[in-house]
Amino acid sequence: MSYGYQGGELGLFSGQKFLALRTLVAKDEAPTYVYDLDDIVNRTERLKAAFNQQVTVHYAMKANHNLAVLKTLAQVGIGVDVVSGGEIDLALRVGFPPSRIVFSGVGKTRREIQLALQHKICQINVESPGELRRIGEVARAQKTVAPVALRFNPDVNPETHPYIRTGFRENKFGMDASFFPEVQTVLGQFKDCLKLVGITLHIGSQLRDVSPLLEAVRKSIPWFQRWQEAGHQLSTFDVGGGLGIDYHSGNSEGELRAVEAYARGLLELLKPVGGRILCEPGRILVARAGVLLCQVQYLKETPYKRFAIVNTGMHHLLRPALYEAYHRILPLRESSGAEVKTYDVVGPICESADVLGHDRPFAGLQEGDWLAVMDSGAYGAVMSSHYNLQAPPREVAIRSGEVIS
Ligand SMILES: Cc1ncc(COP(=O)(O)O)c(C=O)c1O
Repeated sequence: MSYGYQGGELGLFSGQKFLALRTLVAKDEAPTYVYDLDDIVNRTERLKAAFNQQVTVHYAMKANHNLAVLKTLAQVGIGVDVVSGGEIDLALRVGFPPSRIVFSGVGKTRREIQLALQHKICQINVESPGELRRIGEVARAQKTVAPVALRFNPDVNPETHPYIRTGFRENKFGMDASFFPEVQTVLGQFKDCLKLVGITLHIGSQLRDVSPLLEAVRKSIPWFQRWQEAGHQLSTFDVGGGLGIDYHSGNSEGELRAVEAYARGLLELLKPVGGRILCEPGRILVARAGVLLCQVQYLKETPYKRFAIVNTGMHHLLRPALYEAYHRILPLRESSGAEVKTYDVVGPICESADVLGHDRPFAGLQEGDWLAVMDSGAYGAVMSSHYNLQAPPREVAIRSGEVIS
């Protein structure tokens, strides 16, 4: 267990130590993301064990690019999946070797491709024939050979929010089999500077049922084989990310068991195919490790609703506003015996979408109380904005019960 209550206080359990989250509140009472680095290490090790060391893990940096988080993951010895020049720079700065960097993303600029090739990263995941041509041109100009993997769109429609569904035929991502001739032509035109090393896919995020993930891999195998038959020595099969967590519960055993079932299915499916398997998990590694601490500024009651107005909101954690995502919201101090009332927990932003949670029960909630928005380690701080000229959230990383940054 990572976060939980002891003596009525919400805190972080670390071995025999208990760190009350209240002690991490800064003097200026700024909203604060807390990251439990030990939890990230434990989950990464558990994922590696589930894959029986047969899958190379590339953490999807887009989920959380906090420096302490990234350095921790680099030290665990896994790779990283990046989607911009900024992420390439940061990956190198925190110690990921270029040979462990995969470059994904649908809109790579010339400048970003130059950077990737200059640092000789291990693989560029390609989304369209136009992008492949551009990579060829840049590689030729730099007198180098670009290692590329072709992203397949398997046309599966998993149960998740439409905004985080990426492997359906109507999405902008990847290529289906109809792209084969055009891609083959471009590969032929740039034989001297493009090396096709593998295929890649990613069908979406926050998938609680792993069967669409496996279905997508199954549907991608012919794409892999077709390129091999066309004379390319493919060495990597990148299955992307997408593993989800149970945002409604503090118990993560169910989602970890789903990971294990996925790993078994994946290894079974890809055994006859050959090639090194890569994956790009983001959320499953870091979501549980993060909480967002915020303070109740005002309690407001109308004839229709009760509101707890806090000092954080959609500018720090966009997921509820953007995806109608659910996060548990817990008080830092339990108050037993007091009357339970339900509140919409809302932020200060001038938008009615600025709601962190609807109809949440709290006992004896008061102005000045602190709350924790749970499981906010993935797609939290990274998606924050300055909207309404609000200050960014503070971020604090904890290792072995000690604040390290
Ligand atoms: C190409 C790619 N790989 C990996 C990921 C990580 O997904 P998740 O955090 O769901 O594991 C994403 C997320 O959108 C992605 O676009």
